Amino acid sequence: MSDMRRKVTKAIFPVAGLGTRFLPATKSIPKEIMTLVDRPLIQYAIDEARAAGIREFIFVTSRGKGALEDYFDINPLLEASLRKSGKDALLEMLKSTNMESGAIAYIRQNKALGLGHAVWCARRLIGNEPFAVILPDDVIDGEKPVLQQMVEAYQETGGAMVAAMDVAPEKASAYGVLDIEEDMGDLVKVKGMVEKPKAEEAPSNLAVIGRYILTPRVLANISKVKGGVGGEIQLTDAIAEEIKQGRDVYGYRFRGQRFDCGSKAGFLQATVAFALARDDLRDEFACYLEELMSVRKAVE
Ligand code: G1P
Repeated sequence: MSDMRRKVTKAIFPVAGLGTRFLPATKSIPKEIMTLVDRPLIQYAIDEARAAGIREFIFVTSRGKGALEDYFDINPLLEASLRKSGKDALLEMLKSTNMESGAIAYIRQNKALGLGHAVWCARRLIGNEPFAVILPDDVIDGEKPVLQQMVEAYQETGGAMVAAMDVAPEKASAYGVLDIEEDMGDLVKVKGMVEKPKAEEAPSNLAVIGRYILTPRVLANISKVKGGVGGEIQLTDAIAEEIKQGRDVYGYRFRGQRFDCGSKAGFLQATVAFALARDDLRDEFACYLEELMSVRKAVE
């Protein structure tokens, strides 16, 4: 495959979910707009994609996600007001939230038929190139952004690639799980993939995390796979189909810390970690946490 064909410039962001785990907040705001400190979840995903060379951002949305569209649009009133009051730093910060016209597209998934189906909804915008998929619930703090790590690895491997992380064996059934053919350390050649296997049937404890580099063939597979776990069209099954057809699929053990922001505990952990990483908050917040812990210890 030529280098040109391995260039990854498009990413799909499946954001159609109802976010029921975060009700009542998600009654009126999309989960992806909820903030870690002061940045919406989706901003972390977009920044990671940009760092990896993504230029076209495809959102698979649903009813009630209008706030996402507004978030990425220029807000002339706000900008004029900040300009007038000389708040240049805030104006500068807003730049990373403004998307150029034509760089972002919204496609509706009108039935919640699963992650595979959500990705498939974007098929006409992908055309005949490899593309990335980012699940914004998986926030990954890495010195080098994780999708960039994967794009670099993908230049060498081609095929299809999923982010992978070793999880405790009893947790494997919450994920897509890789059946390992050859473990090369960072890279793992995969001979099978199972979505949310029963604990005793998990082929390993190497779990799929929400970053993918896929080819249009996977989109074609999605049209053919039947409903999988939970009756949903699973992306995992469509990628596994590639292996059955004799094509290469890799897991990539990324460097970085992953937070499961689809769960309340994960969201809170990410909030604490990102707050402690901020120069403007670290001292005060760390002090508060220390006090809190010492009170807890005293009680015990
Ligand atoms: C999805 C994928 C699963 C993957 C997980 C990572 O599941 O279907 O294969 O392991 O994301 O976060 P979900 O968590 O949306 O049920």
